[in-house]
Amino acid sequence: MYTIAVCGATGAVGRKIVEIIEEYNLPVKELRLLASARSKGKSVPFRQQQLIIEELTAEQLTADIDFALFAAGGAISEKFAPIAAQNGIIVIDNSSIFRMDTDIPLVVPEINPQAIDLTANKIIANPNCSTIQSVLPLAAIQKIANLTRVDYITYQAVSGAGQNGITDLERGEKGLAPAQFDYSIYNNVIPQIDVFLENGYTKEEVKMITETQKILNLPTLPISATCVRVPVKNSHSVDISFTVDKKISLLEIRDILEKSPGITVVDDPHTLKYPMPLDASGFDEVFVGRIRQDLYNPLQFHMFVVADNLRKGAASNAVQIMRYLMEHATSTK
Ligand code: A2P
Repeated sequence: MYTIAVCGATGAVGRKIVEIIEEYNLPVKELRLLASARSKGKSVPFRQQQLIIEELTAEQLTADIDFALFAAGGAISEKFAPIAAQNGIIVIDNSSIFRMDTDIPLVVPEINPQAIDLTANKIIANPNCSTIQSVLPLAAIQKIANLTRVDYITYQAVSGAGQNGITDLERGEKGLAPAQFDYSIYNNVIPQIDVFLENGYTKEEVKMITETQKILNLPTLPISATCVRVPVKNSHSVDISFTVDKKISLLEIRDILEKSPGITVVDDPHTLKYPMPLDASGFDEVFVGRIRQDLYNPLQFHMFVVADNLRKGAASNAVQIMRYLMEHATSTK
């Protein structure tokens, strides 16, 4: 039985983490819910109980905790995750702050759980939401042919920006000015997620590129990304174009996707079956459809990939990493 702390337990991802720990029926001795001082004393339901939120402080991160799941943003992870790790707690961090550190594993449990080495480092990074749903099908395809190029275009839901993103869509519906995004997301699409960098890409786009290379262990794979916020409450969609180094058939692609854990193929144009955010919300699977060959380059393919960004894109992936360690690590200390 394990003692688990959720840091940021009142946020969009934190609340989902609590829900999923209950849903997966994990062996929990105690669940401690931490957030800012603003939330101290509020309660959250867990297994027919109401758990009281405590303020996240260094003193709360005591050595009797086995796992701390962080979902309170980069600044909070940067400050508190190293303290937790020093106290012997396994940290699963949802922020982007540690993801590209060479000594911190960036993990999707179906792809690279072997990257975790708890004797070397107690912090494990949970990848970016759009990245998780994209690397799952790409890792499957990499088993039958080498990827030589990947291009992403995303259609990202407002819940990816946390509770404030959801509120902004609701504000827009009521004709109110945005408080989270720079422009109204209601009745609009915004081709900017996170800040712009010198090279004209946004930080979100660079995250998708570098995190894909790290998880797939293909550090020189050429990738481009365009990340777009759309007025969808939940579940991200990604249009993925990929090129491979040898001839493969659509049948082979479909076959390997269908055999891969965590992926469901929804692809029957004749009956209008393809993945959509409304259908993906509430599930852990990554849904893949619209799989087709490029009309000009026989080595290039396209697919449309949809997943619940709060579940597989964030909370479920983090909880699945924890579940993997509960099942595989001989000791958490
Ligand atoms: P709180 O609700 O008390 O502000 P979201 O991504 O949905 O915006 O959620 C952010 C999460 O991070 C919330 O649980 C929020 O708690 C938490 N958080 C924000 N600032 C702090 C802080 N200074 N200390 C601890 N938790 C924080």
